[in-house]
Amino acid sequence: MAHASDEDYARILVTSALPYANGPAHLGHLAGAYLPGDIYCRFQRLMGRDVVYICGSDEHGVAIIMRAREEGVSPQEIVDRYHPMLRDGFEAFGMSFDHYGRTSSPKHHEMSQAFFAEIAAKNKFVLKKESQLYDPEAKLFLADRFVRGKCPNTSCGYEEAYGDQCEKCGRSMSPKELIDPRSAITDAKPELKETTHWYLPLDEVQGWLEQWLDGHGEWKPNVLGQAKSWLKEGLRERSMTRDLPWGVPVPSAVAEAAGVDAEGKVLYVWFDAPIGYISSTCEWAEAVGEPDRWRDYWGQEDTKLVHFIGKDNIVFHCLIFPAMLKLHGDFVLPDNVPANEFLNIEGKKLSTSRGWAVWLHEFLEEFPADYLRYSLLGVLPETKDSDFSWKDFQSRVNNELADTFGNFVNRSLTFAKRFFDGKVPELVAPNELDKGMLQAIAEAPAAIAEHLENYRFRDAGDAMMGIARHANKYFNDSEPWATRKSDAQKCANTIHVSLQVSAALSIVCEPFLPFTAAAMREMLALDGVRSSTRSEGAGGLGWHDAARPLMTSGSPLGEPVILFQKVEDERVQAQIDKLEAAAAPPEPRGGPYEPLSDTIVYDDFAKLDLRVALVTEAERVPKSKKLLRCQVDLGFEKRQVLAGVAEHLSPEDLIGKKVVMVANLAPRKMMGLESQGMLLMATEREGRLLPVWTEGEPGSTVA
Ligand code: 2FM
Ligand code: ZN
Repeated sequence: MAHASDEDYARILVTSALPYANGPAHLGHLAGAYLPGDIYCRFQRLMGRDVVYICGSDEHGVAIIMRAREEGVSPQEIVDRYHPMLRDGFEAFGMSFDHYGRTSSPKHHEMSQAFFAEIAAKNKFVLKKESQLYDPEAKLFLADRFVRGKCPNTSCGYEEAYGDQCEKCGRSMSPKELIDPRSAITDAKPELKETTHWYLPLDEVQGWLEQWLDGHGEWKPNVLGQAKSWLKEGLRERSMTRDLPWGVPVPSAVAEAAGVDAEGKVLYVWFDAPIGYISSTCEWAEAVGEPDRWRDYWGQEDTKLVHFIGKDNIVFHCLIFPAMLKLHGDFVLPDNVPANEFLNIEGKKLSTSRGWAVWLHEFLEEFPADYLRYSLLGVLPETKDSDFSWKDFQSRVNNELADTFGNFVNRSLTFAKRFFDGKVPELVAPNELDKGMLQAIAEAPAAIAEHLENYRFRDAGDAMMGIARHANKYFNDSEPWATRKSDAQKCANTIHVSLQVSAALSIVCEPFLPFTAAAMREMLALDGVRSSTRSEGAGGLGWHDAARPLMTSGSPLGEPVILFQKVEDERVQAQIDKLEAAAAPPEPRGGPYEPLSDTIVYDDFAKLDLRVALVTEAERVPKSKKLLRCQVDLGFEKRQVLAGVAEHLSPEDLIGKKVVMVANLAPRKMMGLESQGMLLMATEREGRLLPVWTEGEPGSTVA
């Protein structure tokens, strides 16, 4: 049913990507998949449409396990910490999810296993026994982000590429394609070990996917472009299971039927996560007391399914999940996937690991949520990457929200309170200016709706602010402060029309500025507007009612309040400073450089016997974080040397290399092992250690 109008659908099911529960939410989250999704759902509910908006935490996958290992806690502890933070952060920003679930829930496990079992029962998986990278020290298969190495893309060659994707050039791959792979857990060189997995034959559905996408020419070009380039490269089978200690277990019945030991096998996180949309809908249906209702949303052709995501999720939502849905057979396919590109911060790529991020909970300690919603709206990365800057934030809040929107609403209400007894004055014989203003609000809801129905959120926001701008000018040009004395009815007309505009604005601004909309309606004492957070049918005042005058002459108004406070320069500078401080590298220990040691005479130096040593073997010392045990060749003899470098260097960094060594240091024991010398290392200012390499022949003296 592509291209159909929203009126042709009985219901709309909207999802925003399930964020990984390995950290709190930040600005990039909001700009990518959440703010647009929320605006869309609030708008559709105001239209009186039946909307269910679904989200939840993605609690499986290597990112979570990694985080747990880094902190020395269990993955459960990690997700139990971040799931509530994510949920509450989104709520504080007004994300109007009907349900926010989590993929560790029993319902989700049950549904993902049933989904997997159904595809297996239909004989759609390909079972393959293959050798895969295995970390012998951690005793783990190195799936996805558990392995790093050099990117196989020759024009890239990035040394720190992940096993599933190179972050630098974007190439997606399987871990075995990495050049010189290393375990991201122990830094060990992986071995190859046999294991069996279930593969989704994406190559077999490629033709169907192509046809399906061809029917969706209306999708955003950035989304279609990326999906089609994957198709052009040719889809390959993709493994839908992993050997990992955390995730949804492979259903034992499926494994048994295939003659595979299910022990330690879980579903691939990108298999179970999108099923989270379904299980979360199911939990919603249970919570509203209609446990079967989720089937209407997922199982009926007249559902419009829309996925809001960031661009890194395009392949999963436009190709892999649709392929899964198709192979399963019981569910609707997405009608649209309006993915956003990335949001940079102050001109630099957002990076949580490097501290270059603005966290939602921290933002809220300083400013109200609507300030961010509005400033982000202006820079949503709808067609290409965009940039958030604090100066731009300040100018949008001060010039648009405070000086334009807020100023107009405030002037209208305070005028009514002071000079019209806090009531809506009557409109009698409006002039051209008044009529022009009323005409503008008559046209606005349809114009903004046209943008929103087509996922043009920035344009929609501009059109909304355009009304406030027009209204502010109308107020100025009408000069009610002058007409109050010269022509009382003219003044009354201006205030009447201004209150009508404020009422209209309180509805059409609601998807963008929900907290402001609520405050405005208090001030206007305007009741009966339908909810934008829950679908309550077509009763009450809705989106299109904003086109007509809603305020009744003579009706009392509430108390005017200031909607927006200006943001001063110092507060903006404080935010910029905070960002830079969080991202700054740690202060070098002991100042910029180590102070020079006391002066010595040549004879002191000559006591040292420095030699060129060839490292022939190196390995980690069990149970020691720091020590590497090296065997070195001095030409005339072989020695064992313990080097406290394991946190900086891997055995492979040293083997086969020649390093300067102190050869006459008295032997000493460490961890029960004897060290017969010392390898020289340069200690950089940030604490990194680098061996003192040499070209000389083993055994040569160094002086
Ligand atoms: O990229 C991410 O953050 C994923 N956790 C998104 C998952 S979306 C969906 F499939 F659940
Ligand atoms: Zn690369």
